[in-house]
Amino acid sequence: MDLEKICELQRDPRAVAISQQQLAALRSFLGDGYGIKPGIDTDFELSKIADDAEFSEMIMRLWDIQESRTSPIPGHRERGDQEFYELIAMQPFLGIMHSHKWSFIFDVAAYMQALCELLAVRGLIADIGCHVGYHSTWLVESSAASVVGIDRCSAAIHFAESTRFAREVPHGKLEFRCQKDLKGIPAGTVDIVMSSDGGVDWTTKCLRTVVPLLHEDGVVAWFGDMPDRDQIIPAAERAGLHLLHADVIGGWTGHHFEPKAVLLAGKRPVGQAIKDPISFSERIWDDGFRKFCNSGENPRDKQTLAHYRSVKIEIDGSRASIDL
Ligand SMILES: C[S@@+](CC[C@H](N)C(=O)[O-])C[C@H]1O[C@@H](n2cnc3c(N)ncnc32)[C@H](O)[C@@H]1O
Repeated sequence: MDLEKICELQRDPRAVAISQQQLAALRSFLGDGYGIKPGIDTDFELSKIADDAEFSEMIMRLWDIQESRTSPIPGHRERGDQEFYELIAMQPFLGIMHSHKWSFIFDVAAYMQALCELLAVRGLIADIGCHVGYHSTWLVESSAASVVGIDRCSAAIHFAESTRFAREVPHGKLEFRCQKDLKGIPAGTVDIVMSSDGGVDWTTKCLRTVVPLLHEDGVVAWFGDMPDRDQIIPAAERAGLHLLHADVIGGWTGHHFEPKAVLLAGKRPVGQAIKDPISFSERIWDDGFRKFCNSGENPRDKQTLAHYRSVKIEIDGSRASIDL
């Protein structure tokens, strides 16, 4: 992989864009394979199946679990989380519950695809907390990388292995593992350790566990809620990582607006030193994303940063400096 290409991204956060055609393929992949679609009203969809004997008990269980997931007692919280992810690893709950964060899932997939292309990733990606494996499988479909997806939830790994997409990929390109640690991945072999929405917390303790997996040019690609401003750089540096890029993804889920953070960190510094990651990541808003969302020309489910980057790059490619 070519880590120096990160400099292009530092100069212009639109350097991670995939084409409109690729975005359409991604939309079908998530919708057809996993039932993850924009504009789904989670409560309404659950209420539609609540009287069905097959599902009513599970819906009650989902409700009960929400309480333990917000419990102040860590043990309760973890048990609640585990049960929640087991329940939403099967349809129709998988599609209904994941569609709630459609724009996040969609934009992470698009971002990772574009990042793999930019950095010419040909080696291994470890997707920590992969759940049913949509990101892992999409990356094998859309890039030259091999992927290992890891999750502690056995029902999720079972689903991940059973999809048509996963069964059809060339042998050796995609593997799923049910485990809650990183055992079995040889040290120094991974191009990108990715964590989307919770597999790895942005803390020194968690980052330290993944650093040994990376080779010298390897990168951690982290997606989630922006950590505290004061903690972003110190947490990485104490784990032996340099912050290489800070960015934003997401947008309208179809019913609410939810941008999320992207942090890229590597074992060696490349390009410019980022001193204020939050301001650095917010450049894309002023670049035109605000206008893109408010112009009335783009449907809500296309008001995500992946769509914005794609449209902007395609327009800029043919007509320089058009103002969106
Ligand atoms: C919110 S889901 C995120 C799924 C997916 N990565 C995404 O972006 O939508 C978090 C996943 O992380 C898994 N997880 C949490 N802690 C883990 C650990 N220590 N080891 C393995 N998996 C873990 C959970 O089982 C769950 O499937």
